[in-house]
This record gives sequence, C-alpha cells and structure tokens, in this order.
Amino acid sequence: MSGIASILAVTGGSVIDPHIGPLEGAAVFIEDGRFAAVETDAKKIKARLKSISDENIFDATGKLVTPGLVDLHVHLREPGREDEETVISGALAAAAGGFTTICCMPNTSPTIDDQETVRFVLSEAAGAACRVHVVGAVTKRRAGKELAEIGDLVKAGVVAISDDGDFVQNPDLMRRALEYARMFDITIMQHAEDKFLVGDGVMNESFASAKLGLRGRPAVAEEIAVLRDIKLASFTGGKVHIQHVSARGSVDAIRRAKADGVNITAEACPHHFTLTDDEIEKKFDTNLRVNPPIRTRDDVEAVIAGLVDGTIDCIATDHAPHSSEEKDVEFDLAPPGMVGLETALGLVKTELIDKGYLSWTDAIHKMTVNPARIINQPHGELSKGHSADLTIIDADRQWKVDPARFKSKSRNTPFTGRTLSARVTHTILRGQISYSE
Ligand code: DOR
Repeated sequence: MSGIASILAVTGGSVIDPHIGPLEGAAVFIEDGRFAAVETDAKKIKARLKSISDENIFDATGKLVTPGLVDLHVHLREPGREDEETVISGALAAAAGGFTTICCMPNTSPTIDDQETVRFVLSEAAGAACRVHVVGAVTKRRAGKELAEIGDLVKAGVVAISDDGDFVQNPDLMRRALEYARMFDITIMQHAEDKFLVGDGVMNESFASAKLGLRGRPAVAEEIAVLRDIKLASFTGGKVHIQHVSARGSVDAIRRAKADGVNITAEACPHHFTLTDDEIEKKFDTNLRVNPPIRTRDDVEAVIAGLVDGTIDCIATDHAPHSSEEKDVEFDLAPPGMVGLETALGLVKTELIDKGYLSWTDAIHKMTVNPARIINQPHGELSKGHSADLTIIDADRQWKVDPARFKSKSRNTPFTGRTLSARVTHTILRGQISYSE
C-alpha cells in the first residue's frame, strides 16, 4: 500500500467528519492532492470508483478515517539542538502520530525571532513528512525585554507568536504585542506561568513536593498569568491562546472569560489530563518533569471537565525532545519536557474516549478543526478543495509504548510500557502516504 504514488479514493472506513460525526462506509475522493468529495451513497461510490484503478484506492475497512491531525505545540530543536530533534525527524514523528500539520515553537538557538530564521525552518520543512508552520517569538531572543519585529515575522510566514517556555512577564510589553497581533490578525500563544511565583521550582507545589523536598511551582503562578492575559485580551481586543493548561483555577478563569466574550482559546496536553504529581514520588522519572508541571487529581479532573464542556478548545502535545544525557540526572537538574507526538492519539483514546469523557468526533474536533482555526489555516476539515490530509486509525488496537520504536530522535517519555488502545496505522498528506505502520 505504501508504495502507491497517489491516493485518489479512501474506501470502507468509518469517516469522521468533525462537523457531523461518523459516516459509516463513506468514501473520500481526492483529486490533485485535494479533497474532491466525501460520498456516502453506495451506488455513487461504486460508480465513481470505476474510473479509479485499484492501486490508487486505499482500503480503510475496519479503520477510522479522520482529517489529518493538527498540533499547535511542538518543539523541533532546529536550529541549535539537532542531536535532540530536527525539522525532518520531528515531522516524521508527527506523521507517525497521525499529524499532518504541526506548529513549531521559537525556543531554538538562535531564537526564531527574525525573518531569516523563519525562512530557514520553512526551507528545512519543504518535503518533510508533515506540514510545518512556524510560530515566531513575541520578544527578541525571548528575553522579555523588547518586542520582536512582529510585522516582519508575519511577512516571513509565521502563523502565531509565542515566547513559549517563558511567560511574557511585562504586562506593558504583552499589551503592545497584543495590539500588533491584532493588527495582523494573529494569536499570541502564551506560556502562562508567572516567573516570580515559579522561581526555580521543578514540580507542582503540593503535598508531594513538600514530601520530596523539591522546590514547587504553584498552580497560582499559572492562574495569575491566565487572569492577567484575560484582562489584556479583553482590553486590547487581541487574541490570546493559553498553552498547556494544567490547573483548576486556570480552567475556571478561561470558562468565565469565554462566557464574558473575551477572545481567548486554550489547549491541554495529554500529560496534564493523564498524570498526577504523586507519580514523581513513585518513579522519580525525570521524564515527569515538565513546565507547567503535572499536578493533582483535582487539577486533572478540571482539565478533563474543560475539554468536555469546550472551555479548552484543543489538544496539543508540547512535544519537547531532550537527550538522554540531559535527562539522566537528578530530578531537579533535568530539563523540563517530554516527547508527545507518537503517544498523543493513543492517550486521547485510552484516557478520554474509553473513559467516556469525549466521543471520537469531539476528540477529533479538538485535534483538527479547532487548532486549525486558532492559526487561521484551512486544515482539519474534509472540505472540497482543501489539502487531502487524512489520518487512518485502528481504533481497537492495544499496543505498548516502546520509545525504541519512536521516529523522534529523543526518547524522553514517561509513558514507556503503558498500554494504549488505539493506534495510527497510516497518515496521508496532500494525497500521498506520509506514514505507514
Ligand atoms: O516542559 C517544557 N519544555 N515546557 C516548555 O514550555 C518548554 C519545553 C521545552 O522546550 O523543552
């Protein structure tokens, strides 16, 4: 199957249109790498298939067929740390996870804060296994002192701006950034953790951190940052997207802000709806170190409730590759972050769908249409004329996470050995197979 040149029809599967739901036995037709039609009438499907040769037909019998997944939050480490990930290796990992579009963060070395660096990443991404959009920095070198040339970044093709890894602490700078972002109709993706409150904390500030004698990053650091940005978004009319929401108070604040009509969106990561801080004591696995940190059961429940009621718009991975040399140290010396592209869909199925929180349609909505809207890009839908990007999923496959099999250059996952209940078998980008199991 993977050897065929172009796919012109995908048949036999259960097609999930995120706007409608599952369309049993529907066929997706593709022309010139773009969607031509989603057909549900068996007779019409048969007639149309007559003019397509077998080698251009992808048989998805028994599988789910969804629009290609979109991930707003990925670290590709290029330029600067190509030993951990490159644009090419990260795109391969993305394709293996079912993603056809990813956004890469600017905390590289050098920082993606000028046109040359944006163009460099985009040129590396040409021909990669996944479409790569670039998120430029809000401030020069992400130092939080001076705004980057936001207009130049937009001209070079960034789809959003973020100082991810760091909060834009200075409220006046954030205000100006939002005013510019509004002019260019782009969103600011905010790593919402007040720097003074997190200090040099390495895990959630809680009973668990006190017991372990590790410095804490309190939930209030995130909640205050979220509340400030809600005010600034409301004041400027600019769009703020809260990255990796991890605390109950943040979910509550975003819910209220949305009800008040504030231009705010939010994402949650699989680790924040799956893991709790007491795991750190059990395992002392440095792959559990992440910013913002994994928190309490109560926070996990709030994040899930936010996903269920739409307060949290999308699911993003925060795929953050780190080398084993750097992670193989004491907990508080390890850099924060974990890889996530190749486990995300499986965790969504196991933790959210199997447990009855989300339907497949809801989950796919949060991994396709919603993230695509936040970056104003025409992805994640099966609409005629859109790039023919599809994810093919075996929804009943049990598999064990084995980092040795990752396409990513890094292996830093806390989910090693965990059994997941769905797996991406193929990914199709622009009508061509970009990943085949
Ligand atoms: O844990 C994290 N790692 N959080 C971030 O915001 C940045 C990321 C990284 O780049 O490693």
